[in-house]
Amino acid sequence: MKVVGGSSSLALARSLAGVLGAGFVDVAFEKHAGGFPDGERYVRLLGSVKGEDVVLVESTHPDEKVVELFLLQDAIADEGAARVTLAIPYFGYGRQDKKFEPGEPVSARALARRLQVGSDAVVTVSVHDPGVLHFFDVPATDVSGMPALARYLKGMDVDMVLAPDGNARRFAEEVGEALGAPWEALEKTRLDSHTVEVEEKSLDVDGRAVAIVDDVISTGGTIAKAAALLRSQGAARVVAACVHGLFVGNALERLKTCDEVVATDTVSSPATRFSVARELASAIE
Ligand code: R5P
Repeated sequence: MKVVGGSSSLALARSLAGVLGAGFVDVAFEKHAGGFPDGERYVRLLGSVKGEDVVLVESTHPDEKVVELFLLQDAIADEGAARVTLAIPYFGYGRQDKKFEPGEPVSARALARRLQVGSDAVVTVSVHDPGVLHFFDVPATDVSGMPALARYLKGMDVDMVLAPDGNARRFAEEVGEALGAPWEALEKTRLDSHTVEVEEKSLDVDGRAVAIVDDVISTGGTIAKAAALLRSQGAARVVAACVHGLFVGNALERLKTCDEVVATDTVSSPATRFSVARELASAIE
């Protein structure tokens, strides 16, 4: 078996190869130093995949990684791989999993249909809604990244786990149970892409350490509101932990109210502290 890593999640791809005991194929991402002047992507496999079971690891965020993924798929097929498992650690566009307004695409479906071309199986990590797996015509599995969060938080004496919104309720429950800590959930109203409101809820957090857990941190607005609520109620320590740390714009600045902000390696970021390689490997045959 060989693992090929796209540039979105290279460290994860290397760790995955280690866990699977597979070979790692390096990729050149530039033909000339500095890349193409027009910003077009370039890839070249620097090792053989001929006749191999290949695991291709690439998140679909930001958009340029989608193009890179198509290029890697083409190269892998052309070099004669026997079987390809596409591992999408962060499935960008997964949040547009339905048509919210007339005239909109189902973006997750649009991507799934195209990404699966040439793949024999697909694996995602903490996909926003597991329902999107039905958009793939090949076998598709999602693994939870929450056990990786729990492993990291275990050493921290967390008194409570908090979900910042209803969608994250299941994550707080999973992490809370793994830590043996109580968990709570807030309700959130999104006003626009950058602004959310979080319900005022009285929580027993005075002097306590709280971990806020979510699948994605994008602008940081959701976590920032939850952290402010915790601070206003006397929380002594606030840690924000997510699977997919996108940290768009000044997100990390907004999150300075937290003592620590940590994320997995599905998307490489300054907050990446731990790996979902073990979880990903568990779904790869
Ligand atoms: C939404 O339901 C997701 O689980 C996250 O809560 C959301 O994507 C976070 O976005 P932001 O960081 O921009 O508030």
